[in-house]
Amino acid sequence: MRIGSDEHKQRFCRQFIASHRQFDPAILPWPDLDDAALGRLRSIPFWQEVLYTERRAGAIVAAYAATIADPLVHEAVSLQGFEEARHAELLRVMIHRYGIAADEPPLDEPISSNLRRAFADFGYGECADSFLGFGVFKIARRSGFLPEPLFEIFDMLMREETRHIVFFINWMAWQQTARGYGARWLRAENAAWYYSRAIGRLLGTLRRGRRANDGKDFSATQASALLDGFTFRGFVKECCAEHARRMAGFDSDLLLPRLLPTVAGVALAGWRLRPSTA
Ligand SMILES: [Fe+2]
Ligand SMILES: [Fe+2]
Repeated sequence: MRIGSDEHKQRFCRQFIASHRQFDPAILPWPDLDDAALGRLRSIPFWQEVLYTERRAGAIVAAYAATIADPLVHEAVSLQGFEEARHAELLRVMIHRYGIAADEPPLDEPISSNLRRAFADFGYGECADSFLGFGVFKIARRSGFLPEPLFEIFDMLMREETRHIVFFINWMAWQQTARGYGARWLRAENAAWYYSRAIGRLLGTLRRGRRANDGKDFSATQASALLDGFTFRGFVKECCAEHARRMAGFDSDLLLPRLLPTVAGVALAGWRLRPSTA
């Protein structure tokens, strides 16, 4: 199968559509939480930011989907928009059920008038967020910071994000080929440019989050439960291992996000050569 061909398009769209799961966030097996678990869940400082991100994701993806002429790609991107909106709904259900403090401010950042560019920026952002999120999720789950039934629900969300980034990477290569930019080096250069923008935005979000949460008490008590025995190298290893595990289930003919795991793998190899810095 040639990347960028009609067969490629059929393959990545159909795999995405066929792997969609139906569920209603309101009737998931949400567990009853004791006071300690409720306190830990409520102390997590970023639920409002996560909800905002999912609401914005739904808006960007739906807006871009409306512009797509190809019926199969339109169906797949519309389905992604539906899933992003359902992520926001899942978070709303959780926030309401457990009495978490989080508002829904209006989506004040206007979506760019270049919707293809907005979707591409969003997609590379998802690739970066997911790579780091895989490691955070694994570490949080292993620490038992929240009850396992909640992680099982969040895992459905992680699974959908994994499908989104695989779909996105293939869509990107397919439409770049259609526009005459399909050569591998051009795609790599393009990916590096978008990733640098995505990482810049991620650092901005982290800075804003740190400012917004200054003086709140998540850091000392709650974070220590999560970060017990944590090293940066260990975190990067978890990101790589989880990325590989979650990607293993996809059709081997499809492209997979590669840049961040490759960069992380090179960094880990460098660390191995300097064992005293571990
Ligand atoms: Fe999402
Ligand atoms: Fe997503």
